[in-house]
Amino acid sequence: MAEKGKVCVTGAGGYVASWLVKLLLSKGYVVHGTIRNLGDKKYAHLKTLDKASENLKLFKADLLDYNSLRAAIEGCIGVFHVACPVPYEHMLSVALGTSMDLEEEVEKMEVEIIEPAVKGTQNVLQACLETTVKRVVFVSSDGAVLMNPNWPRDHVMDEACWSDKEYCSETKNWYCLAKTAAESKALEYAKETKLEVVTVCPSLVIGPMLQSTTNASSLVLIKVFTDGLDKLENIFRYLVDVRDVADALLLTYENPKADGRYICSSHTIRPRDLVEKLKKMYPHYNYPKKFSEVENEQKLSSEKLQKLGWSYRPLEQTLIDSVQSYQDAGVINNATLR
Ligand SMILES: NC(=O)c1ccc[n+]([C@@H]2O[C@H](COP(=O)([O-])OP(=O)(O)OC[C@H]3O[C@@H](n4cnc5c(N)ncnc54)[C@H](OP(=O)(O)O)[C@@H]3O)[C@@H](O)[C@H]2O)c1
Repeated sequence: MAEKGKVCVTGAGGYVASWLVKLLLSKGYVVHGTIRNLGDKKYAHLKTLDKASENLKLFKADLLDYNSLRAAIEGCIGVFHVACPVPYEHMLSVALGTSMDLEEEVEKMEVEIIEPAVKGTQNVLQACLETTVKRVVFVSSDGAVLMNPNWPRDHVMDEACWSDKEYCSETKNWYCLAKTAAESKALEYAKETKLEVVTVCPSLVIGPMLQSTTNASSLVLIKVFTDGLDKLENIFRYLVDVRDVADALLLTYENPKADGRYICSSHTIRPRDLVEKLKKMYPHYNYPKKFSEVENEQKLSSEKLQKLGWSYRPLEQTLIDSVQSYQDAGVINNATLR
Protein backbone atom coordinates (compact mmCIF):
# COMPACT_ATOMS: atom_id res chain seq x y z
CA MET A 1 0.00 0.00 0.00
CA ALA A 2 1.27 3.46 -0.86
CA GLU A 3 2.43 5.64 2.01
CA LYS A 4 -0.27 8.13 2.98
CA GLY A 5 1.83 10.70 4.73
CA LYS A 6 3.12 11.32 8.20
CA VAL A 7 0.80 11.93 11.11
CA CYS A 8 1.41 12.34 14.83
CA VAL A 9 -0.64 10.69 17.59
CA THR A 10 -0.17 12.12 21.08
CA GLY A 11 -0.37 9.68 24.00
CA ALA A 12 0.11 6.83 21.52
CA GLY A 13 0.33 4.12 24.18
CA GLY A 14 -3.09 4.85 25.72
CA TYR A 15 -6.26 2.82 25.21
CA VAL A 16 -7.93 4.84 22.43
CA ALA A 17 -4.67 5.96 20.83
CA SER A 18 -3.31 2.41 20.52
CA TRP A 19 -6.30 1.41 18.39
CA LEU A 20 -5.89 4.56 16.35
CA VAL A 21 -2.19 3.87 15.75
CA LYS A 22 -3.06 0.31 14.70
CA LEU A 23 -5.68 1.62 12.26
CA LEU A 24 -3.40 4.30 10.82
CA LEU A 25 -0.58 1.81 10.25
CA SER A 26 -2.99 -0.58 8.54
CA LYS A 27 -4.03 2.22 6.17
CA GLY A 28 -0.47 3.03 5.13
CA TYR A 29 0.25 6.07 7.31
CA VAL A 30 3.63 6.73 8.82
CA VAL A 31 2.98 7.48 12.50
CA HIS A 32 4.91 9.57 15.00
CA GLY A 33 3.62 8.47 18.38
CA THR A 34 4.35 10.38 21.56
CA ILE A 35 4.81 8.53 24.84
CA ARG A 36 6.12 9.76 28.15
CA ASN A 37 8.85 7.23 28.74
CA LEU A 38 10.55 5.47 25.86
CA GLY A 39 11.77 2.57 27.98
CA ASP A 40 8.47 1.73 29.71
CA LYS A 41 7.21 -1.83 29.20
CA LYS A 42 3.60 -0.63 29.17
CA TYR A 43 4.10 0.63 25.61
CA ALA A 44 5.55 -2.68 24.34
CA HIS A 45 2.31 -3.53 22.51
CA LEU A 46 2.90 -0.66 20.07
CA LYS A 47 6.01 -2.32 18.68
CA THR A 48 4.08 -5.51 17.93
CA LEU A 49 1.49 -3.79 15.73
CA ASP A 50 1.53 -4.69 12.03
CA LYS A 51 3.92 -2.42 10.10
CA ALA A 52 5.16 -0.81 13.33
CA SER A 53 8.75 -1.75 12.66
CA GLU A 54 8.77 0.23 9.39
CA ASN A 55 6.19 2.95 9.95
CA LEU A 56 5.93 3.78 13.65
CA LYS A 57 8.42 6.08 15.30
CA LEU A 58 8.07 6.81 19.01
CA PHE A 59 9.02 10.14 20.57
CA LYS A 60 9.35 10.97 24.24
CA ALA A 61 7.05 13.93 24.90
CA ASP A 62 5.09 15.50 27.71
CA LEU A 63 2.09 17.74 27.10
CA LEU A 64 3.66 20.49 29.19
CA ASP A 65 6.95 20.39 27.31
CA TYR A 66 6.47 22.33 24.08
CA ASN A 67 9.80 21.39 22.52
CA SER A 68 9.24 17.68 23.03
CA LEU A 69 5.83 17.90 21.31
CA ARG A 70 7.21 20.00 18.50
CA ALA A 71 9.96 17.48 17.77
CA ALA A 72 7.31 14.75 17.34
CA ILE A 73 4.99 16.92 15.23
CA GLU A 74 7.71 18.31 12.95
CA GLY A 75 7.32 16.89 9.42
CA CYS A 76 3.75 15.66 9.94
CA ILE A 77 0.74 16.79 7.91
CA GLY A 78 -1.83 15.68 10.45
CA VAL A 79 -2.06 15.42 14.22
CA PHE A 80 -4.42 13.39 16.38
CA HIS A 81 -4.30 14.94 19.81
CA VAL A 82 -5.45 12.11 22.05
CA ALA A 83 -3.31 12.48 25.20
CA CYS A 84 -5.00 13.74 28.36
CA PRO A 85 -5.09 12.57 31.97
CA VAL A 86 -8.19 10.37 32.42
CA PRO A 87 -8.80 9.89 36.17
CA TYR A 88 -10.80 6.81 37.10
CA GLU A 89 -13.02 8.44 39.78
CA HIS A 90 -14.07 11.15 37.37
CA MET A 91 -14.74 8.71 34.56
CA LEU A 92 -16.86 6.64 36.95
CA SER A 93 -18.89 9.64 37.95
CA VAL A 94 -19.67 10.65 34.34
CA ALA A 95 -20.26 7.10 33.15
CA LEU A 96 -22.29 5.68 35.99
CA GLY A 97 -23.46 8.74 37.87
CA THR A 98 -21.82 7.45 41.05
CA SER A 99 -21.20 10.29 43.45
CA MET A 100 -17.56 11.23 43.62
CA ASP A 101 -16.05 10.82 47.02
CA LEU A 102 -13.55 13.48 46.19
CA GLU A 103 -12.37 16.13 48.54
CA GLU A 104 -9.71 17.18 46.13
CA GLU A 105 -8.06 20.52 46.40
CA VAL A 106 -8.58 22.73 43.42
CA GLU A 107 -4.84 23.39 43.15
CA LYS A 108 -4.07 19.69 42.86
CA MET A 109 -6.68 19.15 40.15
CA GLU A 110 -5.43 22.24 38.35
CA VAL A 111 -1.95 20.70 38.15
CA GLU A 112 -2.95 17.08 37.53
CA ILE A 113 -5.83 17.45 35.07
CA ILE A 114 -6.63 20.96 33.92
CA GLU A 115 -3.15 22.18 33.04
CA PRO A 116 -2.09 19.14 30.98
CA ALA A 117 -5.46 19.19 29.20
CA VAL A 118 -5.66 22.91 28.46
CA LYS A 119 -2.03 24.03 28.28
CA GLY A 120 -1.11 20.72 26.63
CA THR A 121 -3.66 21.31 23.89
CA GLN A 122 -2.40 24.83 23.39
CA ASN A 123 1.16 23.48 23.04
CA VAL A 124 0.07 20.88 20.48
CA LEU A 125 -1.86 23.44 18.43
CA GLN A 126 0.96 25.95 18.52
CA ALA A 127 3.42 23.30 17.33
CA CYS A 128 1.00 22.41 14.52
CA LEU A 129 0.69 26.01 13.44
CA GLU A 130 4.46 26.54 13.46
CA THR A 131 5.17 23.44 11.36
CA THR A 132 3.54 21.89 8.28
CA VAL A 133 0.40 20.44 9.84
CA LYS A 134 -2.78 20.84 7.81
CA ARG A 135 -5.39 19.25 10.04
CA VAL A 136 -5.74 18.42 13.73
CA VAL A 137 -8.24 16.00 15.19
CA PHE A 138 -8.73 16.70 18.88
CA VAL A 139 -10.19 14.01 21.11
CA SER A 140 -12.62 15.67 23.48
CA SER A 141 -15.32 13.84 25.46
CA ASP A 142 -19.04 13.69 26.06
CA GLY A 143 -17.98 15.24 29.37
CA ALA A 144 -17.66 18.47 27.37
CA VAL A 145 -21.30 18.07 26.28
CA LEU A 146 -23.36 16.51 29.06
CA MET A 147 -22.78 18.76 32.08
CA ASN A 148 -25.31 21.34 31.07
CA PRO A 149 -28.23 21.70 33.51
CA ASN A 150 -29.79 24.42 31.33
CA TRP A 151 -30.16 22.34 28.20
CA PRO A 152 -33.91 21.89 27.59
CA ARG A 153 -35.01 18.54 29.02
CA ASP A 154 -36.96 17.53 25.93
CA HIS A 155 -34.08 18.27 23.51
CA VAL A 156 -31.66 15.64 22.31
CA MET A 157 -28.12 16.70 23.18
CA ASP A 158 -26.20 17.49 20.00
CA GLU A 159 -23.05 19.41 19.08
CA ALA A 160 -24.65 22.72 20.10
CA CYS A 161 -24.72 21.56 23.71
CA TRP A 162 -21.65 22.48 25.78
CA SER A 163 -20.96 21.55 29.37
CA ASP A 164 -21.29 24.52 31.68
CA LYS A 165 -17.85 25.22 33.14
CA GLU A 166 -19.27 26.80 36.30
CA TYR A 167 -21.49 23.79 36.86
CA CYS A 168 -18.46 21.49 36.38
CA SER A 169 -16.56 23.51 38.99
CA GLU A 170 -19.49 23.54 41.45
CA THR A 171 -19.85 19.76 41.11
CA LYS A 172 -16.05 19.33 41.29
CA ASN A 173 -15.97 17.57 37.97
CA TRP A 174 -12.48 18.67 37.01
CA TYR A 175 -12.14 16.19 34.18
CA CYS A 176 -15.27 17.54 32.44
CA LEU A 177 -14.13 21.08 33.15
CA ALA A 178 -10.73 20.32 31.62
CA LYS A 179 -12.18 18.69 28.50
CA THR A 180 -14.69 21.51 28.01
CA ALA A 181 -12.06 24.21 28.40
CA ALA A 182 -9.55 22.41 26.16
CA GLU A 183 -12.06 21.68 23.40
CA SER A 184 -13.53 25.17 23.32
CA LYS A 185 -10.05 26.71 23.27
CA ALA A 186 -9.04 24.39 20.42
CA LEU A 187 -12.01 25.50 18.33
CA GLU A 188 -11.37 29.17 19.15
CA TYR A 189 -7.73 28.75 18.16
CA ALA A 190 -8.83 27.24 14.85
CA LYS A 191 -11.02 30.26 14.15
CA GLU A 192 -8.27 32.73 14.99
CA THR A 193 -5.47 31.01 13.09
CA LYS A 194 -7.30 29.14 10.27
CA LEU A 195 -5.60 25.91 11.37
CA GLU A 196 -8.08 23.11 10.54
CA VAL A 197 -9.27 21.61 13.81
CA VAL A 198 -12.00 19.01 14.16
CA THR A 199 -13.09 17.74 17.58
CA VAL A 200 -14.57 14.35 18.41
CA CYS A 201 -16.46 13.79 21.67
CA PRO A 202 -16.70 10.08 22.51
CA SER A 203 -18.97 8.77 25.23
CA LEU A 204 -17.72 6.01 27.56
CA VAL A 205 -15.30 3.99 25.47
CA ILE A 206 -15.33 0.23 25.96
CA GLY A 207 -14.13 -2.75 23.93
CA PRO A 208 -10.95 -4.80 23.80
CA MET A 209 -7.67 -3.39 25.11
CA LEU A 210 -4.43 -3.55 23.15
CA GLN A 211 -2.36 -2.22 26.03
CA SER A 212 -1.30 -4.32 29.02
CA THR A 213 -2.42 -1.88 31.75
CA THR A 214 -6.14 -1.33 32.40
CA ASN A 215 -7.40 2.14 31.53
CA ALA A 216 -10.10 4.07 33.42
CA SER A 217 -13.09 3.47 31.13
CA SER A 218 -12.42 -0.27 30.90
CA LEU A 219 -12.31 -0.31 34.71
CA VAL A 220 -15.78 1.28 34.78
CA LEU A 221 -17.27 -1.64 32.83
CA ILE A 222 -15.31 -4.17 34.86
CA LYS A 223 -16.77 -2.59 38.01
CA VAL A 224 -20.33 -3.03 36.71
CA PHE A 225 -20.17 -6.74 36.46
CA THR A 226 -17.70 -7.62 39.17
CA ASP A 227 -18.21 -5.25 42.11
CA GLY A 228 -21.76 -6.08 43.26
CA LEU A 229 -22.58 -2.39 43.63
CA ASP A 230 -25.41 -1.74 46.10
CA LYS A 231 -27.26 0.64 43.83
CA LEU A 232 -27.05 2.35 40.45
CA GLU A 233 -29.12 5.18 39.00
CA ASN A 234 -31.14 3.77 36.14
CA ILE A 235 -30.58 6.78 33.93
CA PHE A 236 -29.53 6.66 30.26
CA ARG A 237 -25.80 6.05 29.80
CA TYR A 238 -23.82 6.34 26.60
CA LEU A 239 -21.32 3.86 25.19
CA VAL A 240 -19.07 3.50 22.16
CA ASP A 241 -16.61 0.82 21.00
CA VAL A 242 -12.95 1.83 21.00
CA ARG A 243 -12.55 0.53 17.43
CA ASP A 244 -15.47 2.69 16.31
CA VAL A 245 -13.84 5.70 17.99
CA ALA A 246 -10.64 5.03 16.02
CA ASP A 247 -12.75 4.87 12.84
CA ALA A 248 -14.41 8.19 13.73
CA LEU A 249 -11.03 9.85 14.28
CA LEU A 250 -9.73 8.67 10.93
CA LEU A 251 -12.97 9.61 9.17
CA THR A 252 -12.95 13.15 10.54
CA TYR A 253 -9.29 13.43 9.56
CA GLU A 254 -9.69 12.13 6.02
CA ASN A 255 -13.04 13.62 5.04
CA PRO A 256 -12.49 17.21 3.90
CA LYS A 257 -16.13 17.99 4.71
CA ALA A 258 -15.58 17.32 8.41
CA ASP A 259 -15.98 20.54 10.36
CA GLY A 260 -16.33 21.54 14.01
CA ARG A 261 -17.46 19.11 16.71
CA TYR A 262 -18.68 15.53 16.42
CA ILE A 263 -20.38 13.58 19.18
CA CYS A 264 -19.26 9.95 18.93
CA SER A 265 -21.62 7.64 20.80
CA SER A 266 -23.29 4.45 19.58
CA HIS A 267 -25.49 3.07 22.31
CA THR A 268 -27.83 4.75 24.75
CA ILE A 269 -28.77 2.26 27.42
CA ARG A 270 -30.04 2.17 30.98
CA PRO A 271 -27.77 0.34 33.44
CA ARG A 272 -30.59 -2.09 34.31
CA ASP A 273 -30.88 -3.14 30.65
CA LEU A 274 -27.11 -3.34 30.28
CA VAL A 275 -26.88 -5.58 33.32
CA GLU A 276 -29.74 -7.78 32.05
CA LYS A 277 -27.84 -8.19 28.79
CA LEU A 278 -24.60 -9.04 30.60
CA LYS A 279 -26.37 -11.49 32.90
CA LYS A 280 -27.75 -13.40 29.93
CA MET A 281 -24.31 -13.65 28.38
CA TYR A 282 -22.26 -14.08 31.58
CA PRO A 283 -24.59 -15.16 34.40
CA HIS A 284 -21.93 -15.69 37.07
CA TYR A 285 -20.55 -12.25 37.76
CA ASN A 286 -21.33 -10.02 40.66
CA TYR A 287 -23.68 -7.41 39.19
CA PRO A 288 -25.25 -4.32 40.83
CA LYS A 289 -27.99 -5.31 43.23
CA LYS A 290 -30.50 -2.49 42.82
CA PHE A 291 -31.38 0.37 40.52
CA SER A 292 -32.99 3.65 41.45
CA GLU A 293 -35.33 5.14 38.88
CA VAL A 294 -34.65 8.69 37.70
CA GLU A 295 -37.12 10.79 35.76
CA ASN A 296 -35.05 13.26 33.76
CA GLU A 297 -33.37 11.53 30.92
CA GLN A 298 -31.76 12.93 27.83
CA LYS A 299 -30.43 11.38 24.69
CA LEU A 300 -27.13 12.12 23.01
CA SER A 301 -27.05 12.21 19.21
CA SER A 302 -24.23 11.17 16.86
CA GLU A 303 -26.31 11.99 13.80
CA LYS A 304 -23.76 14.51 12.52
CA LEU A 305 -20.99 11.89 12.57
CA GLN A 306 -23.24 9.28 10.98
CA LYS A 307 -24.07 11.71 8.19
CA LEU A 308 -20.33 11.97 7.54
CA GLY A 309 -20.28 8.19 6.98
CA TRP A 310 -19.63 6.73 10.44
CA SER A 311 -21.21 3.47 11.51
CA TYR A 312 -20.71 1.28 14.57
CA ARG A 313 -20.73 -2.26 15.88
CA PRO A 314 -23.61 -3.90 17.75
CA LEU A 315 -23.31 -3.57 21.54
CA GLU A 316 -23.30 -7.37 22.01
CA GLN A 317 -20.14 -7.63 19.89
CA THR A 318 -18.44 -4.94 21.94
CA LEU A 319 -19.37 -6.65 25.21
CA ILE A 320 -18.19 -10.08 24.06
CA ASP A 321 -14.88 -8.68 22.81
CA SER A 322 -14.42 -6.62 26.00
CA VAL A 323 -14.93 -9.59 28.30
CA GLN A 324 -12.61 -11.74 26.19
CA SER A 325 -9.96 -9.04 26.41
CA TYR A 326 -10.31 -8.68 30.21
CA GLN A 327 -10.04 -12.45 30.59
CA ASP A 328 -6.99 -12.62 28.34
CA ALA A 329 -5.36 -9.80 30.30
CA GLY A 330 -6.19 -11.56 33.58
CA VAL A 331 -8.15 -8.59 34.96
CA ILE A 332 -11.15 -10.82 35.39
CA ASN A 333 -10.48 -14.09 37.09
CA ASN A 334 -12.24 -16.60 39.30
CA ALA A 335 -11.89 -14.32 42.30
CA THR A 336 -14.47 -12.01 40.75
CA LEU A 337 -17.00 -14.81 40.29
CA ARG A 338 -19.75 -15.20 42.85
N1 LIG B 1 -11.96 6.18 27.53
C1 LIG B 1 -13.06 6.91 27.51
O1 LIG B 1 -14.15 6.49 27.93
C2 LIG B 1 -13.01 8.28 26.92
C3 LIG B 1 -14.23 8.93 26.66
C4 LIG B 1 -14.21 10.20 26.10
C5 LIG B 1 -13.01 10.80 25.80
N2 LIG B 1 -11.85 10.16 26.08
C6 LIG B 1 -10.61 10.85 25.73
O2 LIG B 1 -9.83 9.98 24.94
C7 LIG B 1 -8.44 10.26 25.15
C8 LIG B 1 -7.70 8.98 25.45
O3 LIG B 1 -8.24 8.43 26.65
P1 LIG B 1 -8.03 6.89 27.00
O4 LIG B 1 -9.32 6.37 27.48
O5 LIG B 1 -7.32 6.20 25.92
O6 LIG B 1 -7.10 7.02 28.29
P2 LIG B 1 -5.64 6.48 28.60
O7 LIG B 1 -5.50 5.09 28.17
O8 LIG B 1 -5.41 6.82 30.03
O9 LIG B 1 -4.74 7.40 27.67
C9 LIG B 1 -4.40 8.70 28.01
C10 LIG B 1 -3.05 8.99 27.40
O10 LIG B 1 -2.68 10.34 27.71
C11 LIG B 1 -1.33 10.33 28.11
N3 LIG B 1 -1.04 11.48 28.97
C12 LIG B 1 -1.65 11.85 30.12
N4 LIG B 1 -1.05 12.94 30.62
C13 LIG B 1 -0.04 13.26 29.78
C14 LIG B 1 0.96 14.26 29.77
N5 LIG B 1 1.05 15.19 30.74
N6 LIG B 1 1.86 14.28 28.75
C15 LIG B 1 1.81 13.34 27.78
N7 LIG B 1 0.89 12.36 27.74
C16 LIG B 1 -0.02 12.32 28.73
C17 LIG B 1 -1.13 9.03 28.83
O11 LIG B 1 0.23 8.71 28.87
P3 LIG B 1 0.83 7.65 29.92
O12 LIG B 1 0.55 6.32 29.30
O13 LIG B 1 2.26 7.98 29.98
O14 LIG B 1 0.11 7.85 31.21
C18 LIG B 1 -1.94 8.10 27.96
O15 LIG B 1 -1.18 7.63 26.88
C19 LIG B 1 -8.38 11.31 26.24
O16 LIG B 1 -8.26 12.58 25.63
C20 LIG B 1 -9.73 11.20 26.92
O17 LIG B 1 -10.12 12.41 27.54
C21 LIG B 1 -11.81 8.92 26.62
